[in-house]
Amino acid sequence: MNMLIMGPPGSGKGTQSKLMVEEFGVPHISTGDMFRTAMREQTEVGLLAKKYIDRGMYVPDEVTIRLVEERLKQDDCKNGFLLDGFPRTIYQAERLDEILKGMGKQLDHVFKIEVDSYVIVKRLSGRRICPSCEASFHLEFHPPKQKGICDNCGTELTVRSDDTPETAIKRLEVYLQNTYPLIEYYEDQGLLRNIMGFGTIERVFFRIKRELGYDQD
Ligand code: AP5
Ligand code: MG
Repeated sequence: MNMLIMGPPGSGKGTQSKLMVEEFGVPHISTGDMFRTAMREQTEVGLLAKKYIDRGMYVPDEVTIRLVEERLKQDDCKNGFLLDGFPRTIYQAERLDEILKGMGKQLDHVFKIEVDSYVIVKRLSGRRICPSCEASFHLEFHPPKQKGICDNCGTELTVRSDDTPETAIKRLEVYLQNTYPLIEYYEDQGLLRNIMGFGTIERVFFRIKRELGYDQD
């Protein structure tokens, strides 16, 4: 299954992606995670990305597309993948279609998570991430077993550098201006599946599976 998940900052893309890749056995391709790894390792891409990410802006299309194209050509994507946070512009979406076409593939499902802005604020302000393995937690909704410590690797949790209130507002603006038009793009292709993002993490995941014909109420 070739899938992508989109939605505003903090809507739960990463959280649902973790559950989806476990359930469907496909690799998780998150451009945000890839950039954060590159930033940590201080690679050329990482140093460039940091300039944009910390201001809540999108990293230039060409850099992002090249990264995804290389990743999609890896062996583990042969039988499917889940893109998280890519594409984010119409140009990226068009290029993705071309890349997949060149590989004899196409997208099967586009999930869009819908949440109200007050939910976004609550989710981003309480998020804590592991700087080592990228696991994501929430002070109230998804707390780690031991306060401030990653369940997976024991590293001390931190606040993501772009989760400051000012940057979070900027990210939402940038999303509405650049990524919102993608909804129509995928609607026109008959691929869009709207998922209500409120309720517990498990409830949202149930809605995704239901869209695919798994689980019935
Ligand atoms: P990215 O890392 O993708 O950030 P984002 O799109 O802003 O989304 P987030 O990761 O903040 O939120 P999420 O939807 O994954 O929510 P999460 O599951 O963590 O990208 C970062 C930056 O990289 C971009 O701003 C841009 O600069 C750059 N970039 C990335 N891709 C790019 C591209 N294609 N082109 C150009 N630039 C690009 O959940 C949030 C919190 O809520 C967590 O604490 C979680 O535990 C909690 N939570 C989740 N679901 C629930 C629930 N149902 N109930 C209660 N709490 C919940
Ligand atoms: Mg994410």
